Amino acid sequence: MHFNRRSSILLASGLASHVLAANVSTLATRLKAISADVFPDLKDIAVDIWNNPEIGLDEHHAHDLVVDYFTTQRPGEWVVTPHAFGMPTAWRLEFEFTVPARPPNTPLPVIGFLSEYDALVGIGHACGHNHIALNGLAAASMARQAVIDLGIPARIVLMGTPDEESEAGKHTLLEAGAFDGVDVWFMAHPTSTSAVQPMNARINAIADFRGGSHNDVVRSAYEAIVAVSDRVAAGLPGTSSTAVAVEDVGMFECNVVQSQISLGINGSSLETVQQTVSSILDSTFPGVTFTAALDSDGGVNLTSFGPGGHASESTKGPLVLTVETFRALSSQQGVTFYLPGNTTATALDITFDVRSRFTLDLDSVLDVVTATFGNLAASISTDTVYPALEVTPFIPDVFIDLLKTPDYGSQTNWGISTFAPASTDASWLQGAVVDPTTKALIGADRVVFHPNFGICPPGTAHCAFNHEPPFRDLAGTDFSYTQTEIVARALAQIAVELLNDPVMMANATAILGN
Ligand SMILES: *[C@@H]1O[C@H](CO)[C@@H](O)[C@H](O)[C@H]1NC(C)=O
Ligand SMILES: *[C@@H]1O[C@H](CO)[C@@H](O)[C@H](O)[C@H]1NC(C)=O
Ligand SMILES: *[C@@H]1O[C@H](CO)[C@@H](O)[C@H](O)[C@H]1NC(C)=O
Ligand SMILES: *[C@@H]1O[C@H](CO)[C@@H](O)[C@H](O)[C@H]1NC(C)=O
Ligand SMILES: *[C@@H]1O[C@H](CO)[C@@H](O)[C@H](O)[C@H]1NC(C)=O
Repeated sequence: MHFNRRSSILLASGLASHVLAANVSTLATRLKAISADVFPDLKDIAVDIWNNPEIGLDEHHAHDLVVDYFTTQRPGEWVVTPHAFGMPTAWRLEFEFTVPARPPNTPLPVIGFLSEYDALVGIGHACGHNHIALNGLAAASMARQAVIDLGIPARIVLMGTPDEESEAGKHTLLEAGAFDGVDVWFMAHPTSTSAVQPMNARINAIADFRGGSHNDVVRSAYEAIVAVSDRVAAGLPGTSSTAVAVEDVGMFECNVVQSQISLGINGSSLETVQQTVSSILDSTFPGVTFTAALDSDGGVNLTSFGPGGHASESTKGPLVLTVETFRALSSQQGVTFYLPGNTTATALDITFDVRSRFTLDLDSVLDVVTATFGNLAASISTDTVYPALEVTPFIPDVFIDLLKTPDYGSQTNWGISTFAPASTDASWLQGAVVDPTTKALIGADRVVFHPNFGICPPGTAHCAFNHEPPFRDLAGTDFSYTQTEIVARALAQIAVELLNDPVMMANATAILGN
């Protein structure tokens, strides 16, 4: 499995004897000048993507923006492949540079960058993938010009990868061979705080509930959520495992934070509902509020609001308040439940978003969760696994040291964290192997560097997190674009250094030899 990578490292090392390494001591200054030239147009593309959000596999406008720009505005700079690898909204840019002194037929060192550009259903770019698109475009463009200026033989690939959010577009691309033949892959993800960190393994169990009546199906679905909540509280297998329910009605899609949940309660008084909710809602629910009012369906419309939390977190959000209210009232004689404004549905989907810190725990967590509610559901299906992403050694330290320098904004707030805040399909490229006992990273198919960078302006009282509706606004601010420019430039600097220095490349890819 690792054979190909090892041989390409040896060949890259052999490069040194043929072509002298370039002097890269002024690279940071040079990249600033290159950025001033290339970044503004690329930022315009990202702003356009932010203004025109498209969900996974539907990113036709984003696809065309990139393909058209490089075909018409920068012709000849890249080999542009639209609709790459059979995916209508994937694209690939490829560039190769060599020098006369270099013997022909010797493989070039290759750096790859990843762009994403899918949005979330109903809430636009609330995960900031416009910045992931921009980061890849900018870093690749800067690295390209720098290797030309410095005379560094190299190949650079930029892969536009559809549908990160729902069905792991990178898994489809991986199977089509899109990530082969590249020494190191780079991407970067905007979020609320800056850290180089692992990402969780994830799988969704989609449960279909059926009932003879609307009241029955709502009760079954909520009973299932209560059962899973209790099972989570009792402790799931594996490290940092979670199972968070996502109510698939109205705007709620898996991956969209549920910031407003309505539950209809029939056969109880408005006063009882208000007292019940008030007795549950305490300071452990951050920023959660509710309204309760008699409605035209003949019961009480209880609606909970709040920032919630990413599906990977066990934050007590609006759904938890609703579920705990259901738990408190469901045993009372004559009380029934409904979905306000939607009282005819007799089928209801709930997604249980199952996560664990390590891939090797995911199956057992999924088994426990599905066994917990299985008897209540008519059917259960699962989606594509997102394996855990691990932090590969070497590049993180180089990156963090670089960002401390004045050229990169003297950012001293970066660190390597062991906390996994979310998941990513970039893990499919990495193919990490961890020791089953120690959980240490012992091997990988590819080197993937995936820092998460903060786009919250300093001094912001409450920074929205990815997938909360207000994160969309953050991802449109000037500050966020400034941060992306810095991170992209830093990745370009490291990419050029790796392409120029076989020893550094060997260090960065040492994990592949295991
Ligand atoms: C690299 O370039 C810098 C700036 O021009 C110069 O000071 C330095 O001596 C050069 N280093 C080598 C090894 O040639
Ligand atoms: C009503 O519920 C059904 C079944 O869950 C769902 O598909 C539909 O989107 C809901 N409609 C509205 C307006 O919420
Ligand atoms: C609520 O209960 C009333 C009285 O039994 C009934 O007429 C009404 O249809 C119920 N509404 C729902 C949505 O369950
Ligand atoms: C239930 O109450 C919420 C909050 O006031 C409101 O937004 C929603 O439209 C109500 N639902 C119906 C069906 O009236
Ligand atoms: C980097 O490579 C050098 C030379 O092979 C080696 O001495 C050093 O230990 C390596 N460092 C890392 C972090 O792999």
